[in-house]
Amino acid sequence: MEFYTKKVMEHFRNPKNMGEIKDADAQALVGNPLCGDMMRVYIKVGEKKGKKIIKDIKFKTFGCVAAIATSSVTTEIAKGKTLEEAAKITNVKVAKKLGGLPPIKMHCSDLAASGLHEAIYQYKKSKGMKISSDLERKHKLAQATLKETEKVQQKFGIKVKNF
Ligand code: FES
Repeated sequence: MEFYTKKVMEHFRNPKNMGEIKDADAQALVGNPLCGDMMRVYIKVGEKKGKKIIKDIKFKTFGCVAAIATSSVTTEIAKGKTLEEAAKITNVKVAKKLGGLPPIKMHCSDLAASGLHEAIYQYKKSKGMKISSDLERKHKLAQATLKETEKVQQKFGIKVKNF
């Protein structure tokens, strides 16, 4: 039996929406304190039927096969969704879309979901929009885990350059 599903390997070999959005409306940096990996998310926000939607989204991930595959599939799921819908995308949903992840790699799917949520938080904050208590909680967690990630990187001498 293969360690990763076919779908995981497809997204790893040919990631969708990888890169930067130079004039992004918001961006986020999140980390995984278990391994020191990091992800940046960029979003452009548009409007559809009077609702704010994710018009475009790109990512850069410094991480493992599962981190890159989940980043890629998260951007696919989030594109076109309202900010409220996208804020509810969970790492479990992302992993399911990939046909599952080995239990030992489930923590990698946290990075993508929390990067998306943090970019939505940053957008809403910059526009003075109402932020739900759930999104506020996710933001606080993302900030705390980013600090821990940086400590892990220092401890193991991991240098994330040009990221
Ligand atoms: Fe770090 Fe997968 S091992 S995100």
